Amino acid sequence: MDDKQLVALHAARYVKQGMLVGLGTGSTANYFIEELARLAREERLKFTTVASSTISAQNAQSLNLPIVALEHISSIDLYVDGADEITPDKTLLKGRGSDLVKEKLLAKAAERFIAVADASKLVTHIGENFPIPIEVMPFAWKLAKESLAQIGAVGDLRPNAAKDGYWITSHGSYVLDMKFAQNTNAKDLNALINNVPGVVEHGIFHNLADIVLIARDGQVSEQ
Ligand code: A5P
Repeated sequence: MDDKQLVALHAARYVKQGMLVGLGTGSTANYFIEELARLAREERLKFTTVASSTISAQNAQSLNLPIVALEHISSIDLYVDGADEITPDKTLLKGRGSDLVKEKLLAKAAERFIAVADASKLVTHIGENFPIPIEVMPFAWKLAKESLAQIGAVGDLRPNAAKDGYWITSHGSYVLDMKFAQNTNAKDLNALINNVPGVVEHGIFHNLADIVLIARDGQVSEQ
């Protein structure tokens, strides 16, 4: 079993009878969804899910998990999702996929948000390994990029996979992948980016994760 699967199985222990559980997006979240299906099937655990992306909703449905739509919920008991970077103060960087908006809505709505990852995701500061994904309204991208440049960011629109156009999120936005000075802390960055007109959402999840579970060489630890 690889570390991503191990940590996902560990997180599934937090799922209790009757909970409304948010499903993250990505390979670690997929292991969590598979484990939920096993718990429902073999241990008769009853719960309802809500997905952060179409692909996770599809996975859940193909495994016969009960699922409700995001627009019908006002809070959830538990959210489990992966991350691209995790700092010692539990700030996350997310958003290599297309579903930042739903991911952050669920992270905020959750009574408990558990971030799950292997040790490769641990960093000392946000932006160490990846630029910050900033989802912008398509017509606003240039003005938003200019506003971001004024606060020290460098970067550009994310290209699509074929590199013949731009990446479009599941909400029809563009993504600016921006690098900031390494000494800007995540709390300040979060506030600065939130203040840029045209920004729909961004990948810094500050003060949202309650628990971070990290698997390293077959062992899970809580950060
Ligand atoms: C989805 O938008 C991302 O934030 C993922 O949660 C993140 O990339 C982690 O993915 P893996 O679990 O596949 O590493």
